[in-house]
Amino acid sequence: MKQAAKIIDVSAREVLDSRGNPTVEAEVLTDSSIGRASVPSGASKGKLEALELRDGDRRRFHGKGVTKAVSNVNKIIGPKVRGLNSLDQSKIDRMMIRLDGTPNKNRLGANAILAVSMATAWAAANALHVSLYRLLEDSRGYTLPVPMMNVINGGEHAGNELAIQEFLIEPVGADSCTDAIRMGSEVYQSLKEVLISKYGRGAINVGDEGGFAPPLKKTRDALDAIRHSIRQSGYSENDVRMGMDAASSTFYDNKARAYTLDGMRMDANELEDFYASVKDEYDLLTLEDPFEEGSFRSFASITKRIGKTTSIIGDDIYVTSVPLIRKGIREKATNAVLLKLNQIGTVTETKAAIQECARAGWEAVVSHRSGETGDPFIAHLATAYGVSFIKAGAPARGERVAKYNELLRIDGELAGRGKFAGRRFS
Ligand code: PGA
Ligand code: ZN
Repeated sequence: MKQAAKIIDVSAREVLDSRGNPTVEAEVLTDSSIGRASVPSGASKGKLEALELRDGDRRRFHGKGVTKAVSNVNKIIGPKVRGLNSLDQSKIDRMMIRLDGTPNKNRLGANAILAVSMATAWAAANALHVSLYRLLEDSRGYTLPVPMMNVINGGEHAGNELAIQEFLIEPVGADSCTDAIRMGSEVYQSLKEVLISKYGRGAINVGDEGGFAPPLKKTRDALDAIRHSIRQSGYSENDVRMGMDAASSTFYDNKARAYTLDGMRMDANELEDFYASVKDEYDLLTLEDPFEEGSFRSFASITKRIGKTTSIIGDDIYVTSVPLIRKGIREKATNAVLLKLNQIGTVTETKAAIQECARAGWEAVVSHRSGETGDPFIAHLATAYGVSFIKAGAPARGERVAKYNELLRIDGELAGRGKFAGRRFS
């Protein structure tokens, strides 16, 4: 293997994400390659996420411009990275963390830093003429993740009244990741028919992540439609499991310490009972962010109650931060973690968070954001470290299928040697 690909230039520009908002795209040029990456953006963010630097100038993009972050890449980060070896990912990431000097990357912006971090990895892979997952982890064998496909959107991702943000299908019974993607697509198309026949064509408008956003109000109505579509596609509920991301901070009233869901107002104990019965009725394989992000105790309580057979995934409570994940491990708050590159801001720190999960014997889920780009980086990240799940939205819309299609390419490149993580769950 060639050991160096020296960085000769770094630049960034403002491009649009899938919601039409500006985001940062960076290019890293080495003496033998180019790498390009763009960063996603969330809507239901954790309070402790690394800072997404926005201009705040109301005259441009309603204040959402990222020219400051772009200029930080061009003028501050670029000159420091130039001359370094693009293969030294952790050295470059550590240098950028130091250059920023703040705990949440609020000086340079996590969007600026992450764009360069990811583009560096792409440039290094291209210089070595290897696929990115092989660059990230040079392994003898790879395991591809189970796709968690968000087929019904609610919460902040849709204009309907569903409080729960995401209703997911998880084709664990597939023989391969390629098969799982086909099965997910089939169920998605069946769901479209089920929703039309039950609620009319207005029910198949889609939300931010490409899932349908039917005018439903109740959690069980969404799960019933999905269950029906799984059966209609000829699968059993053991082949295609179901999950939810409640993103419950979005329906939590901090003052009243109460959650509003399905037309009811509930305290944490009542909400736990609600989840436990939904879990029993629909055999949920995964449940993400069931409580608001400060409630480690409520998380621990539901994990104790249903965690043997359900992955309780922490997203907003951990924000891909190793110290917060360690706190969760100490308090047995969950048994799984959602990992998002832009919650923390570098490839190296995301890898450290995945390794922390592995040490604890917890499931790791690599995830997109609701505002995405065509960058398929996370398909490689998930494969490189053999995480159990990847959450990349519905099997529809360009920015979502960019990830699933990249998994198809990776699976193809591995030519039958790629293992599939679904076997453990079926
Ligand atoms: P976000 O939501 O990207 O809008 O923050 C995704 C999630 O909560 O998992
Ligand atoms: Zn989430």
